[in-house]
Amino acid sequence: MKLTGRTILITGGSAGIGLAFALEFMELGNQVIITGRRQGILDQVKLRYPKLHTIQSDVANPVEISTLAARVRAEFPKLDVLMNNAGISHYKNLKATASDLAGLTTELNVNVGGVIRMTSAFIDILKANKGSLINVSSALAFVPLPCIPIYCATKAAIHSYTLSLRFQLQETGVDVIELMPPAVKTDMTADLPEGDGIILITTQELVKQSFKALKAGSLEIRPGQSSQLALMSRLAPNFINGQLWKAARKLVPVGAG
Ligand SMILES: NC(=O)c1ccc[n+]([C@@H]2O[C@H](COP(=O)([O-])OP(=O)(O)OC[C@H]3O[C@@H](n4cnc5c(N)ncnc54)[C@H](OP(=O)(O)O)[C@@H]3O)[C@@H](O)[C@H]2O)c1
Repeated sequence: MKLTGRTILITGGSAGIGLAFALEFMELGNQVIITGRRQGILDQVKLRYPKLHTIQSDVANPVEISTLAARVRAEFPKLDVLMNNAGISHYKNLKATASDLAGLTTELNVNVGGVIRMTSAFIDILKANKGSLINVSSALAFVPLPCIPIYCATKAAIHSYTLSLRFQLQETGVDVIELMPPAVKTDMTADLPEGDGIILITTQELVKQSFKALKAGSLEIRPGQSSQLALMSRLAPNFINGQLWKAARKLVPVGAG
């Protein structure tokens, strides 16, 4: 993937992996727009990095996506990279009935619905500008960490959806890239202890490995442990699934949530 002179929109770019990618892309001479739900956090990021463009938008809200797409088309007609990064993760106990059945699928609305809606809303401009699409799934698309069961299912769904997208977009000039991070130290993993085979890498390390792969033209990027998990899921699925369950068992919440 060409890494300079591009106009890049990153959902969930106000923190964690999204922000780390935004700063690296900016450093490399790209125009970068980031989104997030919380205006206050976007304002803080803007104060610190005035060259970043910030727009408040929730990927779970179709109306906000349409408004964002119209605004980006008008203000950034050269947009040629969309990074679908925004995501959330919740610990869940599946053995008890959830107190809020509607809330049970929040992760699906953001992690799957958000990616599908954003892709659809931006596909015309990406095609017109022969752009790139980067979907952020996870190493957990291959093997579930059962304490965050719905999250893992969303990431497996994004892996499948991204494969289909890549085939359908084959003759459009749009590259479809999937980034499958391993466990990374961010707000999302603040409660995930290391040990039992779980290693958390820094966002800097993730960026270093991912940009090397992006530069080399990789379409499926599996930094750190992600590559081993993918391999193990093929060679010894029962063993690796059992290992992750060992690490996850004590993290399943007591109540249903
Ligand atoms: N950290 C890991 O170990 C890990 C591993 C594999 C994959 N990933 C994936 O990498 C992506 C980023 O994760 P992260 O660890 O960087 O998370 P994070 O530190 O919690 O940051 C999440 C970002 O997304 C934004 N966001 C959340 N919900 C949103 C929504 N509905 N609409 C728009 N923005 C939203 C947040 O801002 P607001 O809260 O203000 O909206 C924030 O900017 C996610 O897709 C995650 O699944 C993470």
